[in-house]
Amino acid sequence: MRKKIVIGNWKMNLNLNSAKELTSRIIELHKTNTVDVGICPPSIYIQAISSLTKGTKILFGAQNMFYENEGAFTGEISPQMLKDFPVDMILIGHSERREVFKETDEYVNKKIKAALSLDLLPVVCVGESLKIREEGKAEEWVKSQVIKALDGLENSQVEKLIVAYEPIWAIGTGKVCEAEDANKIISMIRETIKAKTNDSASKKVRILYGGSIKSSNFFDIVKYENIDGGLVGGASLKADEFLKIVEAAEKAQSVTLK
Ligand code: PGA
Repeated sequence: MRKKIVIGNWKMNLNLNSAKELTSRIIELHKTNTVDVGICPPSIYIQAISSLTKGTKILFGAQNMFYENEGAFTGEISPQMLKDFPVDMILIGHSERREVFKETDEYVNKKIKAALSLDLLPVVCVGESLKIREEGKAEEWVKSQVIKALDGLENSQVEKLIVAYEPIWAIGTGKVCEAEDANKIISMIRETIKAKTNDSASKKVRILYGGSIKSSNFFDIVKYENIDGGLVGGASLKADEFLKIVEAAEKAQSVTLK
C-alpha cells in the first residue's frame, strides 16, 4: 500500500523568523509515521530550515532548481548545490513556473532527469487551465503533460516519482476540484503511467491532488485509494491548519475508497 504524503509549498511567502517558527511548530506537532509530511520553503531559507528538519520525520523540499549542475546561469540553483543540504525532494513543473516563468514540458523533463540522477525526489506538477477545462480538454491536456514529463525515463525511475495533479483554476482561488473529478483525473494519470511503463511501476507512483486544499475539504479528496495525498499552498503557512490537513490524510490512510 502506498503511504500518503502531504507537502506544504510555501511559495514566496514568510520571512526568516516566521519560516523558522513555522518549521519548529510543524516538527513539534507532527508525531506519527502513518503518513509522510514535507515542506518546501523559499530557496533563500534552505540552509536555515533544512538544518531544523535534519534528523526529524519532516521531508525537506526545494521549490525550484535548474537542470544543469554548474555554469553561466545567473540567478539559478543547481541540483548539485541542493545536495549540499539535506534536501529530499524538489517541486518540478509547478503551474506558476510554467505560466509566469515560461517553463516548457522539455524543461520539466530535463529537470526530472537531473533530479533523479542525484537522488532528489521529483514532485512533478501537472494541471489544466480554466480555458482548457471549459473546452472539455482537461484529460487530454494532463495526459500529454504526463507523457512528456516521463519521456526517456526508465521504469525504475518512473516508480520513484511523485506526481501532483493541480488544476490551475483551483490554485489559490478557494475553488477546490470536486473530489470525484480529482479521482477521475488522477486515475487517468495512473493509467497513462501504466501504459508508458508497467502495472508494478504505476502502482508505486504517488499521485497527489493540489489546489485550495483546506482541513475542511481534504478528507473528501484524500479518502480515494488512488489519491496519495496533497500539495498544499496557502493552508500550509499555518502550522495548526497544515497539521489538520495531515490528520485528514492519516484518517484516509486507513479508510481508503476505490
Ligand atoms: P493553494 O496552492 O493550496 O494555495 O491553492 C497549491 C499549490 O500551488 O501547490
